[in-house]
Amino acid sequence: MRRRIQRTAISSLLLLWLVLTVLWAVSAAGYLSQTVAMVLGLLFAVVVAAAVPRFISEPLFRVAETAEKIAEGDLTKTIQIHESDEVGKLAQSFNQMAQRLRGTLSMVTQEKNRMQAILDSMADGVIAVDGETRVILINPVVEEAFGLNEEASLGKTVLEVVRDYELDRLFRQALDSGRPVQQELRILTPDPRLFRVHLTPLRGAQGGVVALFRDITERRQLEKMRTEFVANASHELRTPLTSIRGFIETLWDGALDDPETARRFLTIIDEETRRLNELVDDLLKLATIEERRNLFRRQPVELAEVVQRAVEIFETRARQKGLRFSVELPADLPPVAGDVNLLSQVFINLLDNAVKFTDKGEIGIRAWKEDGGVAVEVRDTGIGITPEHLSRIFERFFRADKSRTSELGGTGLGLAIVKHIVEGHGGEVRVTSRPGEGSAFTVLLSTGF
Ligand SMILES: Nc1ncnc2c1ncn2[C@@H]1O[C@H](COP(=O)(O)OP(=O)(O)OP(=O)(O)O)[C@@H](O)[C@H]1O
Ligand SMILES: [Mg+2]
Repeated sequence: MRRRIQRTAISSLLLLWLVLTVLWAVSAAGYLSQTVAMVLGLLFAVVVAAAVPRFISEPLFRVAETAEKIAEGDLTKTIQIHESDEVGKLAQSFNQMAQRLRGTLSMVTQEKNRMQAILDSMADGVIAVDGETRVILINPVVEEAFGLNEEASLGKTVLEVVRDYELDRLFRQALDSGRPVQQELRILTPDPRLFRVHLTPLRGAQGGVVALFRDITERRQLEKMRTEFVANASHELRTPLTSIRGFIETLWDGALDDPETARRFLTIIDEETRRLNELVDDLLKLATIEERRNLFRRQPVELAEVVQRAVEIFETRARQKGLRFSVELPADLPPVAGDVNLLSQVFINLLDNAVKFTDKGEIGIRAWKEDGGVAVEVRDTGIGITPEHLSRIFERFFRADKSRTSELGGTGLGLAIVKHIVEGHGGEVRVTSRPGEGSAFTVLLSTGF
């Protein structure tokens, strides 16, 4: 800079000297009056005086301008100064700094993208907070599970965002103790869901905690269902076995000598073993269906034929009970995709229930086309199902009226089998019912292959 000022000052002084000399020579030669020469000399001096500082500071202006752009975040700008003086060096340093910043920034961006990709693809939820439990990061799993939005949540405390005091306490515990914390927590999301939460304190000056959320609601439900299933199945098996054992003991105790009693007891034993057989068969069927759920055969099935055949099975029993059948099956039903044997079990089970739980009136079967599928309804005018039982009838071993059904010989597995088969086919089964008036079961099956 100093050199630039020196050079500029010397060259301007020389220039001024040259111009003044020329003017003096011209006026001395009589071409110009002395006054005009003086005025021109003065004008030129003013111009030089005004131009010199500008000329000196112009490159500095350019440096300042670009520095401002860089400060604003525009790292694409470079300063075009080719002098080798201090200003040139300054410009060069600025350009190098911008280039290095560009490199660092692209590395940081790459790192951030990589971290974002990991967070986005994680199956677990992640919430990170700072030392004051203010949210600094949440991943899409958390957004989805808790119905949150990352942008709206950032900067708020975890209590404001998730509104769970126990979770807030866990974050504070991890922050204060500096040790990892683990706990199972039921959180309203707004539905209550069970999470296993792992909280790990972050090292570093600012502190903070990262929490990992694993939703274990379904797993717990499955475990509960499995335990209940074993308990129910054992109970169901034990009842007929106890009765069989009881009758055999009575036979040993002397009843065998009375042929009349012996025959009656043997009939009961026979019935009970048949019941046991049916129960074991149903359990095996259910296990097989569950196991092959996604491997069902998908062939075109004419539902009208399947339903008609099922109706024929129950016609005699219905007639004996004085029940009418009304069957409405349009001829132009499209075939559905599925396994014909399994689908016929669906309608056999539904019609079995309809006939079993209806003492008078009619059993109506209707089918119609629906969006991308076929719907079949089995409606009866039977005893109906109370609203509190309605949500449970598809559970294994569930029977609304135990005394009545055991008299009628049911194990409570029929509708569980129906549901498994229909859902395994990608379909849906619905039920509506009014106690004392009747029930309607609707099965929806897809025509898409
Ligand atoms: N059409 C219906 N009308 C009234 N109640 C019904 C009807 N269908 C089912 N239910 C109720 O739902 C329960 C469960 O039905 P599900 O078919 O699973 O078992 P089940 O008929 O008792 O025994 P299973 O079918 O194994 O022989 C029945 O015990 C009954 O209480
Ligand atoms: Mg049944």
